[in-house]
Amino acid sequence: MNHDILVKKAKEAMANAYVKYSNFKVGAALLTKSGNIYTGCNIENASYGATICAERVAYTKAISEGEKEFEAIAVVSSGGFQTYPCGICRQFMAEFGLDIQVVLEDGEGTRVHTLKELLPEAFTTY
Ligand code: THU
Repeated sequence: MNHDILVKKAKEAMANAYVKYSNFKVGAALLTKSGNIYTGCNIENASYGATICAERVAYTKAISEGEKEFEAIAVVSSGGFQTYPCGICRQFMAEFGLDIQVVLEDGEGTRVHTLKELLPEAFTTY
């Protein structure tokens, strides 16, 4: 699938971000190998550590619907720069495969990495 469509979906999801504390919005759109798209936004919490990132929201939505195989994830933010997934999200995503394409957009263009590039020598049990 064209990455532009995935980026567009990530931007739509970003509009729903709940960012009462950082005011930094993130949106993600996750494409499954079966061709479905699950979106996510960051959801913050008064207890800051309970915040969940957009990427993990997209993954949890997909996995709870029975999906386990992923092709690509687009990530956008309100920061105006390419927003790389945080360390927790990289580890969380690694559980379901390191070959996924991570598409990062900054308003002008996209960069694409594999998760393997973003999390070298990853700890997994597979
Ligand atoms: N955030 C994400 O949603 N994804 C990332 O990969 C980086 C950080 C969120 C968490 C928090 O709500 C805000 O961005 C600022 O850290």
